[in-house]
Amino acid sequence: MAETDYRAPVGTHDVLPPESGRWSALVQAFAARAARFGYGLVITPVVEHVEVFQRVGTATDVVRKEMYELTDRGGRALALRPEGTAPVVRAYVQHRPTPPWKVWYLAPNFRYERPQRGRYRQHWQVGAEVLGVDDPDADVEVIALAHGFYRDLGLRQVTLALNSMGEPADRAEFVTHLRAYLLERGAGLGPEFLARADAHPLRVLDAKDESWQDVLDGAPQLTEHLSAPSRQHFERVQAGLDALGIRYALTPRLVRGFDYYTSTTFEFSSTALDAAQNAVGGGGRYDQLAEEMGGPPTPGIGFGIGIERVLIACDAEEVLTGAGPALDAFIVDGIGDPSATVLVAELREAGLGADRAYGGRSVKAQWKLADRSGARYGVMLGPREAERGSVGVKDLGSGEQVEVPREQVAGWILLHAEAADPAR
Ligand code: HAM
Repeated sequence: MAETDYRAPVGTHDVLPPESGRWSALVQAFAARAARFGYGLVITPVVEHVEVFQRVGTATDVVRKEMYELTDRGGRALALRPEGTAPVVRAYVQHRPTPPWKVWYLAPNFRYERPQRGRYRQHWQVGAEVLGVDDPDADVEVIALAHGFYRDLGLRQVTLALNSMGEPADRAEFVTHLRAYLLERGAGLGPEFLARADAHPLRVLDAKDESWQDVLDGAPQLTEHLSAPSRQHFERVQAGLDALGIRYALTPRLVRGFDYYTSTTFEFSSTALDAAQNAVGGGGRYDQLAEEMGGPPTPGIGFGIGIERVLIACDAEEVLTGAGPALDAFIVDGIGDPSATVLVAELREAGLGADRAYGGRSVKAQWKLADRSGARYGVMLGPREAERGSVGVKDLGSGEQVEVPREQVAGWILLHAEAADPAR
């Protein structure tokens, strides 16, 4: 019999301290920025009826090959969320909040992909969506939110690719035109090219196959076939980004992986990462999706940012390196009665980060733990100090020691910790 495998499933991973400290720093940065932009947190279930995700495109890889589908005990066909937009639109249609509805989220997503660095079967995203606004200023705001977030983290090597998919009518006409071009000019490229060009001409545009590039380079561009309103919308988005000093590269061959996109689409890539997994975020408009889910016609735009990818980019750029809880004090107990319990509680209630050892360890072993804890100060509760009504306080960085009256120790540490690090 095969041995039970108690490890996390392939393509999933645990996030432990201190790495999880970087996660919470990242999420806090995103939450703070989203709040400043007027977005509220939305939380939707990890499972949805499978039809919710069929709306993102039955021909897409994510839905066709990668979705985790299950039947629950009541016979319902459910899927683990492969992405965050469809559930948010489903929630909008269900609850009908007053538009504009501006929300952000933090959620795991599941895609049965071939796992590799930066590509997982469970990955996490922070993202934002705006429903009920077709103003190009909303496009600019959403892009600025993501752009500013990368900057908040200190990332400097993130670039923005911008495109427009036009309205569905523009796209339908263009696809016919593109298919005819690809089938004619690519006649010599073999059956795989021809089959893909025939079935999904747009998806071929960002194919990486070297021998196809000449034909793809000469392909007609959707942005040259936009209707007047689509073109004006796209120009207003560009003017807004220009006004904010947000740089972008117009990328007519940018093809996003879902069918719901209309009009503006965009992707953020890190030049510090390998090309195969360098997308650190992406999004766009989906002006028809709410209606397709049975709601009123409601334009929408948003993006998703892959947390693991962003952290790999942070490694490459050597930013967001700090980790672990910032402890102010570690208590070393040389007495053994409840006084350590009381002191630790007192420091924590005073707003300080404080920890201690357990299990009656020797004073020497406790000092070792204090050093390893990363705390700024070690606080010694010893019988001699207790007799004098004081505690010993040691700066674990410099090794300097002072004796502080027991009843003043919380105030003393607070004052000194703030003086050393005003941002704490
Ligand atoms: P997406 O481009 O599929 O878009 O995913 C967004 C980001 O999630 C990617 O840029 C990447 O950073 C990360 N990501 C995607 N798949 C994986 C994976 N297997 N492993 C690790 N990271 C991954 C969406 O999901 C859309 N819902 C975005 C959106 C929101 N569009 C409009 N609103």
